[in-house]
Amino acid sequence: MKLLEKYKSAALQLKNRVVMAPMTRCRADNAGNTATDLIAEYYAQRSSGGLLISEGTFINDLAHGYIHVPCIYTAEQVDAWKKVTHAVHEKGGKIFAQLWHVGRVSHPDLLNGQLPLAPSAINPHFTAYTKNGFAETLTPREMTREDIQQTVSDFQKAAVNAIEAGFDGVELHAANGYLFHQFFAKCSNLRKDNYGGAIENRIRFLFEVLDAITEKMDAAKIGVRLAPALDQTFGITRDDEADELYDRLVNQLNDYQLAYLHLSGFSRASVADPMKLVIDTAKHFRTIYKGTLMINKGFTADSGNRVIAEGIADLVSFGELYIGNPDLVERFAAGAALNRNHSETYYTPGAMGFTDYPTL
Ligand SMILES: Cc1cc2nc3c(=O)[nH]c(=O)nc-3n(C[C@H](O)[C@H](O)[C@H](O)COP(=O)(O)O)c2cc1C
Repeated sequence: MKLLEKYKSAALQLKNRVVMAPMTRCRADNAGNTATDLIAEYYAQRSSGGLLISEGTFINDLAHGYIHVPCIYTAEQVDAWKKVTHAVHEKGGKIFAQLWHVGRVSHPDLLNGQLPLAPSAINPHFTAYTKNGFAETLTPREMTREDIQQTVSDFQKAAVNAIEAGFDGVELHAANGYLFHQFFAKCSNLRKDNYGGAIENRIRFLFEVLDAITEKMDAAKIGVRLAPALDQTFGITRDDEADELYDRLVNQLNDYQLAYLHLSGFSRASVADPMKLVIDTAKHFRTIYKGTLMINKGFTADSGNRVIAEGIADLVSFGELYIGNPDLVERFAAGAALNRNHSETYYTPGAMGFTDYPTL
């Protein structure tokens, strides 16, 4: 089984090629938004995966877009993550922290009454998950140059915090319509300064963050997640320069010896054959990107083995299958049946639907 083979690059050594995709689970229902013992148990249960990527973790007070997310900017939060990384390492696993700023996909109820930040003051017309349930987004505040500098520096600090907390690396969440993606897309970025307009300007913020983090750590500890095919969801409409922008961006990532590039498979709801688009997208970026390529969305053991055998990707990340199957690797190895997920408990507090799925 290709998925169960070891993976080795200059940056990464993994016991297999099955990666747990980042998934928000909203279990940090405490005042300080700190990771809990239950969260440590959840990740430890899944540590037979070659690499676990944590749920998105917010890098500062204005990054929030969901409730009960364990964050990574206060000393208390950093300390709390140590029990998670320790529990995963104890069981021989590896874990990266996904660093997250939602930008405009938020609501004042999540930001102590403040308006969300974004490249431009344009409402994504999407929803944010607040303590009162899903709330309509509103028009965000356009980031000033100082806001951008502060956010770059908060990403840098969060990455340093993640390493201090014992994570093996960090993944920048530059996919799915959140802050980085809002800089990339024309629909969300109308800036007239050197963060808007030309493609090199719209990708600048991501590279400023990468440069800031690599001042503090080796690029081998950094992964980047992109959603190049995403369209008409998360507030983003794909534009006539998206192909060129992603080609250029991914090409520029070759200047860094990153841990990996992770392609999120989100496209648009009306695509006739979503898996074909995932594969075609991966094949395209495989020709541009020289490093480790991880792909995602809708994969099974069979299709995952196939993309690795065909050389389309090095690693495959699994999202929903990992929610219901803590022992996904063992199940793949045994050809065993998979548990059925209970989607109503994806974001609810407590152990139910979180740590209580049976293993073989
Ligand atoms: C409950 C849930 C939460 C998610 N949270 C995140 C997240 O925090 N960050 C992220 O990049 N993607 C997130 N995703 C997307 C997954 O990483 C993945 O791309 C998606 O589930 C598709 O992969 P799959 O078909 O293997 O499930 C989430 C998905 C689910 C189901």
